[in-house]
Formats: sequence, structure tokens, C-alpha cells
Amino acid sequence: MKSFSGKKVNTAVFISGTGSNFKNLLNFSLKKSSPIKIIFVYSNFKKAKGLKYAKNNKILIYSFVNKKFNLSENKLLKILNKKKIKLICLAGFMKILSKRFLKKFNGCVLNIHPSLLPKYKGLNTHQRVLDNREKYSGCTVHLVTSKLDSGKIILQKKIKVKKNDSARSLKRRILKEEYKIYPKAINKLLVNY
Ligand code: GRF
Repeated sequence: MKSFSGKKVNTAVFISGTGSNFKNLLNFSLKKSSPIKIIFVYSNFKKAKGLKYAKNNKILIYSFVNKKFNLSENKLLKILNKKKIKLICLAGFMKILSKRFLKKFNGCVLNIHPSLLPKYKGLNTHQRVLDNREKYSGCTVHLVTSKLDSGKIILQKKIKVKKNDSARSLKRRILKEEYKIYPKAINKLLVNY
């Protein structure tokens, strides 16, 4: 694959949990062909597993949350500005960012969601998909707006729901697809647009 010729875009990843998408994005970012450099990871949850991984990889980490999330946003904005972050990737981040915050990043905040949006916004997607006997499910990378799991779709991958799927098996298969489409969506946004 060609190496990326421009300057890599300083990127932050926001997580709340396991951070397997973050790990995958970090691996992607380390490739010569990748347009991003992950230099900052934020979590609203101190014990998020992904933070440990980021720390071990010498990436700057922050975890703080104020009861009024807008105060955390202000603190975040200051750090993001200082670090010249131009792209934010949400990966299992469980807070809704305000309009004001998103405006500062003008179309450069991405999220990954484990369903074929606009269907199944919110939590427990896999169980709801099974309960409704859907034939297909999948995952979506989209631009973030202040409305939950809305915003322009950048990439989507559809997979067949198997007869014997459980929420767990479906989640596992969809996660594998998430690892493929998130980097592709970033390339689409930053390189091929
Ligand atoms: C993923 O399924 C993602 O689509 C959703 O949250 C989950 C995060 O998983 N937004 P991980 O923390 O990246 O393992």
C-alpha cells in the first residue's frame, strides 16, 4: 500500500470501555499509509481498560468527568487545542458531545456504531436485532452530531444474522467488521474525499 504523503493528522480517541476499536485504530495509525497519528486518548471512565493499553503505548491519556459534562468538555477543548488535534474518533464513548463542542471540530468527529444506522440507535443493539428477527445487521461509521447515533454516514458494512446467533456471537462478528471499516472510513474522510 502507498505511504501517506501528507502530514499525519493529529488524532484523539475517546473511549469508555474495552477500547478494542482504539487498539485497532492505533495499529492502523502506525502504518506508513495511514493519514492519522493518535496522540491522545480520553475516557470519561477512569477504569476503562483501553486507557491502560494507551498508557503502555506511551500515548497521552486523560480521564476526568465532571457532573456537568460541559465542564469536562471545556477542559477537553483546552487540551485538544494545545495538542493541535484535528480529528476525534469516538470508539465506545458513552457521552453525548454538545453542539458547541462539535462546532469547534467542524465535521471532524467520527463514531462507530454496531448496527445498520439509522436502525437501532442506542444501546443493546444486538439483542434488539435478534428480538426483531432481523435478517441483517452490521456496523456504521458516521459523523457525529449532538443527536445520538445520527449524522452523515461515511461507511457501513452489512452482515447476515445467523439462525443460531446470540447477542454475543453477533457482537463478536460485527466487531471484526468494525475493525475493517473504521480505518477505511478515516481514509475516506481524510484522503479520498
Ligand atoms: C463497539 O461495538 C462500537 O461499535 C460501540 O461500542 C463498542 C466499543 O467496543 N460504539 P470497544 O470498546 O472498541 O471494544
